[in-house]
Amino acid sequence: MNRLPKHIAIIMDGNGRWANLQGKSRVKGHQQGAQKVRDVVEEATRQGIEYLTLYAFSSDNWSRPKDEVNILMKLLVTSLKKEFNRLINNNIRLQSIGDMSGLPTPVKQELKYVIKKTKNNTGMVLTLALNYGAKEELTQAIKAIAFKVKNSIISPEKVDQSTIIEHLYSQNLPAVDLLIRTSGEERISNFLLWHIAYAELYFTDTLWPDFNKEDLQKAIVDYAKRERRFGKTSQQLTN
Ligand code: FPP
Repeated sequence: MNRLPKHIAIIMDGNGRWANLQGKSRVKGHQQGAQKVRDVVEEATRQGIEYLTLYAFSSDNWSRPKDEVNILMKLLVTSLKKEFNRLINNNIRLQSIGDMSGLPTPVKQELKYVIKKTKNNTGMVLTLALNYGAKEELTQAIKAIAFKVKNSIISPEKVDQSTIIEHLYSQNLPAVDLLIRTSGEERISNFLLWHIAYAELYFTDTLWPDFNKEDLQKAIVDYAKRERRFGKTSQQLTN
């Protein structure tokens, strides 16, 4: 049996379909989704998860209707404000990954504020992926390494996996142990490609606004039953 996953990453999907099924606007779906973020963050902390990473806004989400993008950005600011005390009370450290320069100023400001105020917290690390794309992340890392090689700061022979990790937005994140995606879609959508190399994948039909503490517990129990071989044989693991 595996122990608790150290790092859980979640692709929160299905807000729009949830709203559709309820005959409500997509806004309501995102609002209900934000509510679930709170529940899941609290449950993850309670379970002793060390790292929780949430795909909150992808670098491709800008192509959604302008109104929806604006609403998502506003929701981020209000959620950060509203949840601030809860993060402090739960000793959670907030951080973000993605291209922050592309975010609207109020989001950047609020994010910076909460990151600063929670930076000495010693409990779970909650990472929001915002304006994030894994291919973009890898591209900027490779570009930065190429410049260092060109300027003789790094020698090409010395480039190894740790060099790449050091140049990722998510350099302080450990490998993902469990990747959850809600809403029945079974794809990765440009999320944390480097870190999910050996992640266990868990797909559920539950739409994100319906995903609750019990669903998270179920995913953790499912993970615990899996055998992670990391390229080895089953027999090697038992020896
Ligand atoms: C996917 O649902 C969800 C998103 C694009 C963003 C996730 C955002 C939230 C859960 C709300 C706020 C987040 C935080 C961190 C407070 P979708 O709209 O793609 O659903 P659909 O595929 O059914 O249309």
